[in-house]
Amino acid sequence: MTNPALRESATFDRRAIAEIQRAAETGIYDIRGWGAKRPLPHFDDLLFLGASMSRYPLEGYRERCDTDVVLGDRHAKHPLHLDIPVTIAGMSFGALSGQAKQALGRGASAVGTSTTTGDGGMTPEERGQSKHLVYQYLPSRYGMNPDDLRKADAIEIVLGQGAKPGGGGMLLGQKISERVAGMRTLPQGIDQRSACRHPDWTGPDDLAIKILELREITQWEKPIYIKIGATRTYYDVKLAVKAGADVVVVDGMQGGTAATQDVFIEHVGIPTLAAIPQAVRALQELGLHRKVQLIVSGGIRTGADVAKAMALGADAVAIGTAALIALGDNSPRHAAEYAALGSAAGYYDDFQDGRDPAGITTQNPELASRLDPVEGGRRLANYLRVLTMEAQTLARACGKSHLRNLEPEDLVALTVEAAAMARVPLAGTGWIPGAVA
Ligand SMILES: Cc1cc2nc3c(=O)[nH]c(=O)nc-3n(C[C@H](O)[C@H](O)[C@H](O)COP(=O)(O)O)c2cc1C
Repeated sequence: MTNPALRESATFDRRAIAEIQRAAETGIYDIRGWGAKRPLPHFDDLLFLGASMSRYPLEGYRERCDTDVVLGDRHAKHPLHLDIPVTIAGMSFGALSGQAKQALGRGASAVGTSTTTGDGGMTPEERGQSKHLVYQYLPSRYGMNPDDLRKADAIEIVLGQGAKPGGGGMLLGQKISERVAGMRTLPQGIDQRSACRHPDWTGPDDLAIKILELREITQWEKPIYIKIGATRTYYDVKLAVKAGADVVVVDGMQGGTAATQDVFIEHVGIPTLAAIPQAVRALQELGLHRKVQLIVSGGIRTGADVAKAMALGADAVAIGTAALIALGDNSPRHAAEYAALGSAAGYYDDFQDGRDPAGITTQNPELASRLDPVEGGRRLANYLRVLTMEAQTLARACGKSHLRNLEPEDLVALTVEAAAMARVPLAGTGWIPGAVA
């Protein structure tokens, strides 16, 4: 029996001790997928003020609450017209199987929203199944194909990700199949790291030139997004807009990744909640809020999260992790295989590994064939519909006939931290910590 007087140290708790021992044993740092796992201020710390007397709610069964959004109408001849404001974030073929990419395209298209390529280029299956496809232009030279650029409906220049702002992409060798290697023009079976910044850009002026170049290649037709990991968001959004972005994508530190050092995921960046008001303030000061659209990602799970992000000022959101959860069968049927990976059914704790029994984050043909893209697409479409209906329900309760009419006034915060970060009052008070009266 354990001595009841044993006292665990809060500083050197069991997880810290296990990690020291693991590092001492192996001499390598921990690389994993998923986003930050530590508790952080998040959308759960906000509540809606439904209408009653001073505001007038809308009747759910009779009164409309619209959900459409136009992205990229600042400069592009062909902005994206989406039916719902929930988009699928960039996740690479390589990190994901071809079947998973196809399923994402099917699910998104079924509900009239967009999906996004990722590090490592565009696959024909993905292009074929995606009504609106955003092509990621990476901060490195690999995987860039001018023909694919022209086939895309929009272009997303990736400057950073919420899971690893300041860091580059990583794909472990076990996922570098012949096809993945071919698309990235890099060797097979060897860990691949993409640069943390593009070799041609040493600052915002270079980026402005790159954006012009991309517009010229694509006849000024396609919206250009800039994606940043949330850190100095106020300044970064201003610079992105100045460089010419039509849309800014802000990815908070809860944002998922396929594989990165754990130390990055848990210790770099700011929570999504803190990033949105900074981005909105930057856009408002430029007189471009709602003209340059803001897409927010990082930890979006429910229609409540969607509605809260929009109430804080986002035009749309993007989802990564939740879309993968919706796709597949991470069930106890594969318990023994999950155990062999050091994971368990329901944890999705194997994005980096390459042996995903659900066939989503793998390049192993036998495992990948377990995911039926048609069924995966159907599941994702259902999930996206639920997110939208939940967001509509909340918007109607706040008296809004369009999701875009949600506003910070509809929200209060449950904690002082969330009130300070989200710039909404602590519930039951008019107090926004840190706000200048
Ligand atoms: C498996 C996986 C692969 C990803 N690959 C890319 C990528 O290739 N390029 C990129 O910019 N972001 C990538 N991301 C990050 C997503 O685009 C997005 O920023 C993030 O997933 C949003 O947070 P969420 O997962 O909490 O929804 C990836 C995320 C996941 C989970």
